Amino acid sequence: MEQHETKTLRLNDGNSMPRIGMGFYQVPEGEDFETSLKTGLQMGYRLIDTAAAYQNERSIGKAIHESGVKREEIFLTTKLWVQDYGFENAKRSIDGALKRLGLEYVDLLLLYRPAGDAIGAYRALEAAKKEGKIRSIGVCNHTTPQLTALMRETSVVPAVNQVECHPLQQQLKLRRELERHGIVLESWFPLGHGSKRLRLNETLGAIAEKHGKSLSQVILRWHLQEGFVVIPKSSNPGHMRENLDLFPSGFPTGTWRPSVRCMRTGISEGIQRTRKK
Ligand SMILES: NC(=O)c1ccc[n+]([C@@H]2O[C@H](COP(=O)([O-])OP(=O)(O)OC[C@H]3O[C@@H](n4cnc5c(N)ncnc54)[C@H](OP(=O)(O)O)[C@@H]3O)[C@@H](O)[C@H]2O)c1
Repeated sequence: MEQHETKTLRLNDGNSMPRIGMGFYQVPEGEDFETSLKTGLQMGYRLIDTAAAYQNERSIGKAIHESGVKREEIFLTTKLWVQDYGFENAKRSIDGALKRLGLEYVDLLLLYRPAGDAIGAYRALEAAKKEGKIRSIGVCNHTTPQLTALMRETSVVPAVNQVECHPLQQQLKLRRELERHGIVLESWFPLGHGSKRLRLNETLGAIAEKHGKSLSQVILRWHLQEGFVVIPKSSNPGHMRENLDLFPSGFPTGTWRPSVRCMRTGISEGIQRTRKK
């Protein structure tokens, strides 16, 4: 079976990670949030992506407890923000996240970006992994030189690097380095955060029309074919269902991959959005 057909990936530390998840960036905690998360779990999602900075960890823990889905079936990722960096500070922040979540461990803990004493924070992740508070550890938004610097100073190779990635930002250089170390690329903004440039893209539109799939399905399928993990965000149950429906037999698997690869432009929706503010 080809890699993109499998529903989980084996990480470089031996743990398994689901390939399609739910992202919860800028989703305020509360009842609506909890209902949406429980709906996702009922549909079959098993990967949840949050961060201390999203301020919804309490709702995530509550919804997991109420969902009836066994904890061990769920893969939960959270992240430390820059203000949590430094060894002692990060140790306290990991305990704080576990307390807010009401859980004994998280499956993946990531550093949000390389800044400040990220090395000290990463060492705290390594220590918490040894103690069983975290199953896998990794980073976000690290370039090749930043990864090299981190790996020089620490002992556990990150299992995941979560970076902006979609057909307009394909991370071609970075992914070669990740492959060398067995680090999984997890795509944030997998649908370009609703980018018009992606929605109106003619290449993607033509592929979707030809195969009778939605544009989002084509984009998400592309991520899987490239070997990535995806965490699309949606508050719409119809979209959530569609985003999970990427594995039917007969779904075209790669005949159009070269046309998507040709359209790379290096456009970052994240940077575009920051510039607009
Ligand atoms: N590590 C980092 O630095 C970092 C940075 C940013 C984000 N992230 C993570 O990445 C996750 C995903 O990013 P994101 O949140 O905004 O961007 P995204 O998943 O690329 O795009 C979300 C947008 O796509 C729409 N959408 C989703 N499924 C759709 C479908 N099937 N058809 C049509 N529209 C669809 C959603 O609208 P509807 O609600 O209407 O479906 C929403 O407007 C975040 O939630 C977060 O967990 C990480």
